[in-house]
Amino acid sequence: MLFRSWEQVPTTSAGTGAGGALPHWPDVARVADHVGVEHLLVTRHALVRRVLTDPGTFRPDNALDAVTPMPVSALRILAAHRFRLPPTLANNGGASHPEIRALVADALHPKRVADQRDWLTALVRQRVAGLTADLDAGRPVDLYAGLAADLPLLVLARLVELPDAPVTAVKTFARAALELFWAPLDVDRQQQLAVEVGRFHRVLREFAATGGGLAGALRAAGHPPDVVVGALFFLLVAGQETTSQFLTLLMHRLVGEPAVLAGLRDGSVAVADVVEEGLRLEPPIVTWRRVAAVDTTLGGTAVSAGSSVVLWLARAGRDPAVVDAPDEFRPGQRGSRRHLAFGAGAHRCVGDQLARMEAATVVTEVAPLLAGVRVLRAPWYPDNLTFRMPDTFVVRR
Ligand code: HEM
Repeated sequence: MLFRSWEQVPTTSAGTGAGGALPHWPDVARVADHVGVEHLLVTRHALVRRVLTDPGTFRPDNALDAVTPMPVSALRILAAHRFRLPPTLANNGGASHPEIRALVADALHPKRVADQRDWLTALVRQRVAGLTADLDAGRPVDLYAGLAADLPLLVLARLVELPDAPVTAVKTFARAALELFWAPLDVDRQQQLAVEVGRFHRVLREFAATGGGLAGALRAAGHPPDVVVGALFFLLVAGQETTSQFLTLLMHRLVGEPAVLAGLRDGSVAVADVVEEGLRLEPPIVTWRRVAAVDTTLGGTAVSAGSSVVLWLARAGRDPAVVDAPDEFRPGQRGSRRHLAFGAGAHRCVGDQLARMEAATVVTEVAPLLAGVRVLRAPWYPDNLTFRMPDTFVVRR
């Protein structure tokens, strides 16, 4: 059972079960997923890092493969929308990757990110004031809908020229994509999701042909339309949904960490340290995949070419070999910043500075509000191999 892996569901090399946590995990566990495909689940920080930084032995080609094989009916729907996802960014182990990555990195340059801080601060401050007024009046508020859901997309749209689509359409598409590719699904649901994903893919395809900014730069560099669409597709999913999820996870965690909130208020705790500790303990991307290119070994386990290797990023962040108090939220503790929430190596997240800036801005502005609330409805997390995908997060005074 690979799903809900963030919850420490017991998984042994022999099989799976549900219920109480195992005190000890093997460094590399053989686990079967819901359709019986075997994966190697890597649980230790050093080994996860080793895989991520050795693209010759462990290729990224399977990063976006659907974990529930798509039935012909869903494939037909996608084909009708001319859906294609060629290797562009996360799943591109080929020669074109460095150039595509460099163009995306230009759009997300730290200077351009820093220039958005004041604008974002003003927007978040305004939102938090509205939410605080609601709380003051005794009304419950949804911090996912009120803060986390759309802010990352609004910022992204100021950095990267995107199709002119309503926020709700982009969110629906992005969440459908995360479910279609990373969740255990039945055929009916796959067909519904294929319709959502295919529909928006068509919008992206039209934009890729004429849009400026990053799309124009990719076209000018000679990349074919499919590559432009693939890059936009990944950016719209990875570039906003992950950060939305992280903001919700972090706010939820902080409500249960009154000492950290007090430290933020009196200045004894740095917001940047809170964000890093949040990424370490509550990463929105729980696992990430690679595929073995050759026969090799990993932590003493034989790995045959073609094996799917599932890197448990969330677990690596809690490796006692790296961090002093693995399960405790202690901003600034030794090892706090050594998490692998953004991956490592040639494919390391290019949006990390953007995500950090957004999280630091939100935490700074929302900390006083979080200190005085209780949770009415904690976020709910659907089964998904990789993404947390929280929904509503409702609090009241
Ligand atoms: C908290 C938020 C985020 C987390 C936890 C996160 C995490 C990740 C991870 C784990 C990877 C794969 C790394 C690897 O294979 O080694 C990745 C790749 C990537 N991320 Fe993020 N990400 C976040 C936000 C963002 C944002 C805001 C953007 C852009 C606006 C972004 C753009 C990308 C891109 C383009 C890649 C592919 C890089 C490549 O293959 O060269 N991410 N991210």
